[in-house]
Amino acid sequence: MKVGIVGAGMVGSAAGYALALTGTVSRVVLVDLDAALARAQAEDIAHAVPFASSTVIEHGDYPALAGASVVILAAGVGQKPGETRLALLARNAAVFREVTARVLEHAPDAILLVASNPVDVMTQITTRLTGLPPERVIGSGTILDTARFRSLLGRHLGISPRSVHAYVLGEHGDSEVLAWSSARAGSAPLASFAAQVGAPITGHVRDAIDDGVRNAAYTIIAGKGATWYGIGAGLSRIVRAIAQDQNAVLSVSIATQDVLGVHDVALSLPRIVGAAGVTAHLMPDLADDEAAALMKSAQLLKDTADAVCL
Ligand code: LAC
Repeated sequence: MKVGIVGAGMVGSAAGYALALTGTVSRVVLVDLDAALARAQAEDIAHAVPFASSTVIEHGDYPALAGASVVILAAGVGQKPGETRLALLARNAAVFREVTARVLEHAPDAILLVASNPVDVMTQITTRLTGLPPERVIGSGTILDTARFRSLLGRHLGISPRSVHAYVLGEHGDSEVLAWSSARAGSAPLASFAAQVGAPITGHVRDAIDDGVRNAAYTIIAGKGATWYGIGAGLSRIVRAIAQDQNAVLSVSIATQDVLGVHDVALSLPRIVGAAGVTAHLMPDLADDEAAALMKSAQLLKDTADAVCL
């Protein structure tokens, strides 16, 4: 499988690096307005390949995307310290108006994987701009937030985050919803497992984990200017589900007809991801406060997306 990456900045190149190290696909091509940057990132990543895989790493202009089964859209600007993701919308929407047309000109059959923030609204915009079926326009959504949630829960419980089953839903952003009520560790409900290992989920623990997930990007950006490793790995994970037709359940974002009564909005729910893109979504059992928060997140994203003039 060939994957294109438009935007060879930190996020796009981290996704290319993750794909190269995992050997998920046979070919990765980096495209950027700054051709020298695309070339440099491709050459640097290519030097990592001999340690890990046989992936061919290339760079070029939009015609180099021909034949790509997936194109990652990572073009545009990222958050500055303290800046919200939603604040990036006007600048990145303008970039996507041109980028999406040029991508489809050369890779008309590709699944589009949106990474640029605000990713949910950018996913909705991309769906509207391209006219592609929603299942073929996937936003990375809260796949990273879900990983952060599982990572912090695993650290608290003293277990691998891969043995924690918990999701973050809604906006990849400040209004996201940590679905505590459906979280499990091993095969046990979270509270029961926590009690059994002597690591109860107290109010303080819950608040600390919520803060650690919800504000992770702000903290990291304050320290190093941007985030890229987590999102790069998350994008690579989505590509693997597509490349291997895994039908994996991942919390990703696509334009969705109805979310708790909010119509035509892109946000993250647990969705089944395989070769055709997203084939189904699941509405987890939610506590009343979680359902109310998800509805609020959905309405915020809908209002924001509907206000964008395409
Ligand atoms: C973050 C960026 C990818 O949450 O939005 O790290």
